[in-house]
Parts: sequence; structure tokens; C-alpha cells
Amino acid sequence: MRNITLVGFMGTGKTTAGRILARRLGYRFIDVDEEIEREQGVSISHIFSELGEGYFRMLERGKINELSRRPGLVISAGGGAVIDERNIEAIKTGGVIVCLTATPDAVMKRVGNSAGRPLLNVPDPMSRIIELMAAREQFYRKADFTIDTTAMTPKDVAEEIIRITTGKI
Ligand code: S3P
Repeated sequence: MRNITLVGFMGTGKTTAGRILARRLGYRFIDVDEEIEREQGVSISHIFSELGEGYFRMLERGKINELSRRPGLVISAGGGAVIDERNIEAIKTGGVIVCLTATPDAVMKRVGNSAGRPLLNVPDPMSRIIELMAAREQFYRKADFTIDTTAMTPKDVAEEIIRITTGKI
């Protein structure tokens, strides 16, 4: 059983759709950020503010590398994981990589209070969303499949992922 790893911008539904997907497939669901928080005993926001983004990226890389070697997982990777080529390589070695997208408006609505998302905890989160999305587009394009989740429910997204990855995992 090869893994399905979900990547994509914050608020595109990776965790919500990923949980449904894992249940449907009988796979185990693992959220990279949650694993890091559990192991470190502190929140992602705390890691960003006290230890810096570079430290977080190192933890993220280690966790993705470790998870990609295990079979039968649906993995939700954080929105910035794709920027590091080593993460994409590890994810692709372990299985398929599916990118979820959504419009900046939809992301804004879904992330709501951005306290848990340090990169959007700024005076003008909408401008930051537009700017970060544009800068990351080239990396998100490296996924095997892309699904625009803007007008979809998490259940629809999970079903669409099953449809497109059937025979490939
Ligand atoms: C980040 C996204 C977050 C989390 C961290 C950084 C990013 O994950 O890893 O705040 O760089 O886009 P989600 O995409 O699950 O919110």
C-alpha cells in the first residue's frame, strides 16, 4: 500500500479531506504538523516564534522523511512543505502526491482566526495569502494530481482523490 500525501496551501482542506479519505481506504491518517506538536510538546506557533521558521522546516523535513518510509498512510503535509525539493522527493518515493488548491477568498474564509497559523498572523492576511500562493505555485505544480477544492465539500474531495488515484497506489 503506497501512501497518499496531500499538499497545498493552508485552508485547502488537507486535514479534513485527508481524515475522510483515510477512513474510506482503511489507511492510517497522519498530519505532519500534529505529529510535530505532539512530539515537541508545543504548538507550531510556539516553534515559529521561539525557535524560528528554519527550525520548524528542519523538524518538518525529518518527519516527512520518516513518514514516507512507512506504508499505508494518508499524510497531510503543511502548506510550505513543498518548497523543499527533498520533501517532494521523499513523498514521491513513498507514493503519490496530491495538491489541493482553493481561491484566496475561500482560504481566507476557511482559516478564519489565524492564531494557529503563524504565517497568516499579520495585519493584512489576505495580501499575505495572495503573495504566498503566487510564490509557491511553481512548487505545488510538482504534484502528481491537483484538485481545486473551492466549491467542493471535504467528502467530495476525498471521493475525487480516490477516483484519480485508483490503480496508482
Ligand atoms: C505552513 C502551513 C501550516 C504549518 C505552518 C506553516 C505554511 O500547515 O505547517 O504554519 O508554510 O504554509 P497547514 O497548511 O496544515 O495549515
